[in-house]
Amino acid sequence: MLSASLWLLASEMLEPDQFRLGLYVHWPFCQKRCPYCDFNVHELDPDQPTDQAQWASALCTELLHFAPLAQGRRLTSIFFGGGTPSLMAPETVEAIIDTARQEIGFLNDIEITLEANPTSAGAERFAGYRAAGVNRLSLGIQSLRAEALLALGRQHSVDEALAALELARAAFDNISFDLMYARPRQDQVAWAEELDQALALRPNHISLYQLTIEPNTIFEQLARKGIIRPKDDDETADFYQWTRARLIAAGYAGYEVSNHAENPAFESAHNRLYWAYQDYIGIGPGAHGRLTTEGTKIATRQHRAPSVWLKHVATQGHATVTKDRLDPQQRLAEALPFGLRLTEGLPFTHFEALAPGLLSRGKLEALRAEGYLADDKDDWLQVTGAGRPVIDALAGYIQS
Ligand SMILES: C[S@@+](CC[C@H](N)C(=O)[O-])C[C@H]1O[C@@H](n2cnc3c(N)ncnc32)[C@H](O)[C@@H]1O
Repeated sequence: MLSASLWLLASEMLEPDQFRLGLYVHWPFCQKRCPYCDFNVHELDPDQPTDQAQWASALCTELLHFAPLAQGRRLTSIFFGGGTPSLMAPETVEAIIDTARQEIGFLNDIEITLEANPTSAGAERFAGYRAAGVNRLSLGIQSLRAEALLALGRQHSVDEALAALELARAAFDNISFDLMYARPRQDQVAWAEELDQALALRPNHISLYQLTIEPNTIFEQLARKGIIRPKDDDETADFYQWTRARLIAAGYAGYEVSNHAENPAFESAHNRLYWAYQDYIGIGPGAHGRLTTEGTKIATRQHRAPSVWLKHVATQGHATVTKDRLDPQQRLAEALPFGLRLTEGLPFTHFEALAPGLLSRGKLEALRAEGYLADDKDDWLQVTGAGRPVIDALAGYIQS
């Protein structure tokens, strides 16, 4: 039996889901937009340096605006995403982390991630980010093949990527990198070699994304003109199944569709927060947030254009363009495809609490019978290997 004080201590350490709170900071600038990218990204003018002090101050101002919505919760993770956050001065990152600590507060072992590009400009700054409080680095390596980096329009070589990884290791003991696969013209044998080479680098965490052709990108135009041929659904499903098996064999259990950790200690708390549909504040141009107030989930979105965002923050303290209450259907529509991505899935009660009465047990039974959901627990939604490549379709069916 636990004594009363030990029990109290243990319950504080449990951090129930409703107390989890993340912060997403969007840095909207890149040296160059990649031809496949549809994120809210703006190319920098090389003749006009970013006014880091102005951006630090504006991001902190918007953070102050959102801080009261934390309602006593402390932060469990912060994620600097982009764009290219490694174009932020360490002082800018530090100002935001300090403001977050003072105005919201941190839970012990908070995870603070920054996305970095493997160009020399970013890599020089790693020690500065570490000193500012960043404790996890996510490197956008994308490929270990020179011709693929060229085709992807990347601004770095394979050697620069490997050198950035070495520099990162001198500053961080929690490093992830991203690779994109199922690229046009890539065959599985070549990918097998590239992936083996990546795993031999023993990252703590690796994110593997299948290249998707997004609307309004240069890759979409090239695909439409037949200049590149994207992989079809069967090919990508094959790539996916093979890749997952290879990762498991190398000891990288996938805790989510695209994310794999060397061991559970390196799973990303911020990623998990998204997939479990927990709350996060989103600041910076185009950032999204999801916050529960008075029992209702609120979706926030900030102005996308950097100049408009700056102007609004200067005049009204924030640049929120929409702040919508999500009804139960909308909450389920968001939470289902997210939650189904988690390898261990989520309990039925997670979805029931978000959308009471909207989850049809009959449809879940049908999916269990078809082998898309694990059938050993009927109070739990866990996608099987067969279901993983078709998660969005499964989520759509459950809600229909
Ligand atoms: C916000 S981006 C990272 C930006 C970072 N500046 C970089 O370029 O590496 C996050 C990740 O999403 C992935 N990604 C972006 N666009 C993609 C696409 N069209 N298909 C697949 N993955 C994509 C890339 O692996 C990228 O590292």
